[in-house]
Amino acid sequence: MTTSRPAPVAEDLARYPFPFPKDQYRYSTNVEPSGASTPTAAGSWGGHRIVVDRHYHRELAERDRILAADPSRHQCLPHMEAAAWDAMLTVMGDLAQGYPEMELDRLEHHTYRWRNTLLGIDQIFVIGDSASLPAPPLLYLSSQIQEDLVLLDQRESQLWGDAGVVTFAADWSFGFDVGMSFLEIHGPVPRIHDEKIITRAHNFLMRLEPGQSYRRTNWTLTVDGKLDTSTETYPQWGRDRRTLADGPLEEVGDRLFLRTEVQHLIRLPHSGAIMFLIRTYLLPFAAIASVPEWSLRLYRVLEDLPSDMADYKGITRTRGPGLRWLREFGAVAP
Ligand code: HEM
Repeated sequence: MTTSRPAPVAEDLARYPFPFPKDQYRYSTNVEPSGASTPTAAGSWGGHRIVVDRHYHRELAERDRILAADPSRHQCLPHMEAAAWDAMLTVMGDLAQGYPEMELDRLEHHTYRWRNTLLGIDQIFVIGDSASLPAPPLLYLSSQIQEDLVLLDQRESQLWGDAGVVTFAADWSFGFDVGMSFLEIHGPVPRIHDEKIITRAHNFLMRLEPGQSYRRTNWTLTVDGKLDTSTETYPQWGRDRRTLADGPLEEVGDRLFLRTEVQHLIRLPHSGAIMFLIRTYLLPFAAIASVPEWSLRLYRVLEDLPSDMADYKGITRTRGPGLRWLREFGAVAP
């Protein structure tokens, strides 16, 4: 067994953003205002935009390791400097509001004091002065939150993914996408162009006002609980899907994970950039199956998913074993 996550506990289930409101999943411009706590069959999620949970130290260590091995996961095109500071300050403000272990104080005009006792940090910095931080602002921020983030610049009536730190991508590459337009980034996704989903999303995002904030979820299946399934590390995770499909069915419950991304879309107040936050939650099928409503819903969604969407999500090999496991061990009687 190569699962790299600790076994799930009740708290992981209680906070899991189960992504399926219906028995059928199709792409849509599924956005809603952020901040509301959403009940699920096992608890609730969504009260905070930035979530610190029991995986905090382990996931930050994982991000550190990935960045050390591949610095291209961090990108900040020169014109995005102001947006990077804006993003850092906005997220620090959120953290300070949500968690007693974090504090942000404005000392004078551009000078702030940031404390994060979870990591033993007490830092005074001056906005715009990179020498006042131990790392560039986006890297500094991403070393203290579990979320990946991309910053989009708005110019020439388009959005451009011009900065970010992405270490936990689900089968894409931020180093490849940086500098591309929002529409180009979504180029490979099937269906969404014919169905006008992505042009609607683009128009919606370009109209966001400073401070406005929305969220959506996305999902896929991942083997062995790996957070980093980016294009760059494909040789390290691609074959897991085959070993799962060829392996014993009993192991599927612990090896196959439902991966949910909670994505926030926030217009930053000073720079006008859009901040896209991606938070990844992983729960093995065995844990999903402990909630009968989730088990049946997951089964129905997977069974119904059209093959072009399954192919694009990279779950063509794993959904069959997932469905068989849910029938045999997941108390699903189809
Ligand atoms: C309302 C806003 C958005 C909508 C409706 C949307 C929709 C989608 C959908 C349907 C997919 C396919 C997911 C799958 O099959 O698993 C996708 C993929 C993706 N989205 Fe978005 N998205 C939105 C915002 C963003 C933003 C702001 C970014 C920032 C860069 C982004 C980056 C990506 C990337 C990198 C992929 C993977 C593309 C690939 O395979 O190369 N999305 N998006």
